[in-house]
Amino acid sequence: MSAEIILGVGGGIAAYKACELLRLFTESGHRVRVVPTASALRFVGAPTWAALSGQPVADDVWSDVHEVPHVRLGQHADLVVVAPTTADLLAKAAHGLADDLLTNTLLTARCPVVLAPAMHTEMWEHPATVANVATLRARGVLVVEPAVGRLTGVDTGKGRLPDPAEIFAVARRVLARGVGAPADLAGRRVVVTAGGTREPLDPVRFLGNRSSGKQGYAFARTAVARGAQVTLISANVSLPDPAGVDLVRVGTTAELREATLKAAAEADAVVMAAAPADFRPAVYAPGKIKKADDGSAPTIELVTNPDIAAELGERRRPDQVLVVFAAETGDAEANGRAKLARKRADLIVINEVGTDKVFGADTNAATVIGADGSVTPMPEQSKGDLADGVWDLVVTRLSGRP
Ligand SMILES: Cc1cc2nc3c(=O)[nH]c(=O)nc-3n(C[C@H](O)[C@H](O)[C@H](O)COP(=O)(O)O)c2cc1C
Repeated sequence: MSAEIILGVGGGIAAYKACELLRLFTESGHRVRVVPTASALRFVGAPTWAALSGQPVADDVWSDVHEVPHVRLGQHADLVVVAPTTADLLAKAAHGLADDLLTNTLLTARCPVVLAPAMHTEMWEHPATVANVATLRARGVLVVEPAVGRLTGVDTGKGRLPDPAEIFAVARRVLARGVGAPADLAGRRVVVTAGGTREPLDPVRFLGNRSSGKQGYAFARTAVARGAQVTLISANVSLPDPAGVDLVRVGTTAELREATLKAAAEADAVVMAAAPADFRPAVYAPGKIKKADDGSAPTIELVTNPDIAAELGERRRPDQVLVVFAAETGDAEANGRAKLARKRADLIVINEVGTDKVFGADTNAATVIGADGSVTPMPEQSKGDLADGVWDLVVTRLSGRP
């Protein structure tokens, strides 16, 4: 689907990254009108935006006045994305100021608005900015948490613009849900686990599994696009960091357990998409295990890891929604139902797995069974669409809970 997109650009050092975001939008067939601020034009000039978008570029309300651009641009947009959003723009948007074309557009837009702030940590954490972000979120504006990393100069901290490809991924999910779709996870804290844990055997070997983390990352991205505050606990995943998540990296099942139980204590919903290793070697060999002279193979004793999903089920508050997964190779539905009861979860996402199915693929098919007896078949679809389908079921269960 081709959409009318307004790409607002604020006067931050990350303005150059918006060129990449613009390309991602245009290359996927969208019509993009870039609306930079006057400060943004000091970082990247109008010819760059005009050439890359194939559209005229203005920053004030006095060009092409006969077309009334200060009203028309916002009115006709399917999506407004501002990247980078400066502290100044957050303040103006929160208070409804309209002294240039971008701020006018923000007031006239009735479509979803995604703001990707970028600034120094001090500016981001200032009570004025915190209050402005809260005001905007309460109004349904999607303010994507900045990433942690290198800032302008030598500083490091929270305030970095997420990767353009990841801002694009959030925008795509917002567009996929349609103009009228609410940010129905706004104000909710969710925890998503992703990837597969690895249990070290010696310094060079581990016992692991084939989980790529793609489905878990899709859950995290879609939750961000629906306004949630997301903690993503990632076990050995080599995918780009999704925009707007609080990312916690873990290696083993013990680490996954600790991070998940801690984050889940505050969460409205927990989605256990990670594949924890059920067993670990009883003994870790501090040196590489060598081949025996007679060629015989070593015997490796395993012990059972803690069952994180069952612990979450035991500890969860009655108002928390717990989603678990069953990767099954046999009688998937029967095994899944038994697991749902054992873990005391609200929903179980059952998929049949095999070497050529699900792992590492961009699509997935599943059956989702609810503790209330509901059965929702989800045919083969993108992992993002499947995640949105499961979030729909989570939102239904959250509504009515505080
Ligand atoms: C080199 C440089 C880098 C800047 N980077 C940022 C930034 O990343 N985020 C921010 O909020 N402001 C940043 N500023 C300050 C803004 O440019 C300034 O607040 C300006 O008024 C923003 O205008 P605008 O919101 O209309 O784009 C920077 C200024 C300079 C000179």
